[in-house]
Amino acid sequence: MDLELKGKVALVTGGSRGLGLKMAEALAAEGMTVSICARDGARVQEAEVTIASAARAGGGAPPLGFALDVTAPAEAEKWVAAIVRDHRRIDVLVNNAGAARPGALAELPETAWQEQFELNLFAPVRLARLVAPHMEKNGGGSIINIGSIYGRESGGPLTYNASKAALHSFTKMLARELAPKKIRVNTIAPGSILVAGGNWERRFKENPAFEKDFISHEMPAGRLGSASEVAYAVTMLASPRASWITGACIPVDGAQGHSIL
Ligand SMILES: NC(=O)c1ccc[n+]([C@@H]2O[C@H](COP(=O)([O-])OP(=O)(O)OC[C@H]3O[C@@H](n4cnc5c(N)ncnc54)[C@H](OP(=O)(O)O)[C@@H]3O)[C@@H](O)[C@H]2O)c1
Repeated sequence: MDLELKGKVALVTGGSRGLGLKMAEALAAEGMTVSICARDGARVQEAEVTIASAARAGGGAPPLGFALDVTAPAEAEKWVAAIVRDHRRIDVLVNNAGAARPGALAELPETAWQEQFELNLFAPVRLARLVAPHMEKNGGGSIINIGSIYGRESGGPLTYNASKAALHSFTKMLARELAPKKIRVNTIAPGSILVAGGNWERRFKENPAFEKDFISHEMPAGRLGSASEVAYAVTMLASPRASWITGACIPVDGAQGHSIL
């Protein structure tokens, strides 16, 4: 099936590694021009090489990497302005960059809450505000926010759960606001995803007994998800073929989550 993404432009925050890198590869493989951002410039360059090979296979343009902090308003503005200047359009925004900071209420300074909300909520809000006028000018677009099952239901660290729940709520209301402009806004809520060098791999290596216990209690399919499995869902939502899917929160979790919503 032609997903009608060829020649279009996507921005993926946190596209240098983990889930974001697989999303960028998947969109490039559909022939999109993909721009990624992350703070570590060396990792951004490495990712560009990986995404470029997916782009070649899909007939897409070379990727555009930017080393920047998505929580810095001026840097986010410069990124969007540079893409619009050089490519004249933005069709897809994936707000993927995010992090979880562990800690109980008494251990967390106020700044920890602020940092988590800056990254997990305010940066996606800001980027949505920056790209929406350009999407509208081109007749529509797709904004995909990466939430978590721990935002649809209880689980995960305090600041993470609260900031992801706020992101899910923002997504739903923004979808209603932007529907007349043909801009779709959705959340993907991954469950536990195994990524090379990622958090889960590290925790399992440190404690193999925890791995066995976690998988037998939490993962009905007997394994964690993969980054590619999340990337396929992102590609589907990016496509104009998903024209009637907006305001949705789609779990990609192998039935790990317990929410019936
Ligand atoms: N992995 C899972 O099991 C899982 C489950 C549910 C939801 N999620 C969500 O999925 C998303 C990706 O998770 P992941 O596991 O792939 O994370 P990851 O491996 O830690 O990668 C995070 C990416 O975001 C970038 N990033 C972090 N802070 C940034 C900032 N301030 N400005 C720009 N880029 C920034 C990182 O690069 P730099 O550090 O170089 O900036 C990196 O490219 C997150 O929103 C996470 O909450 C993940």
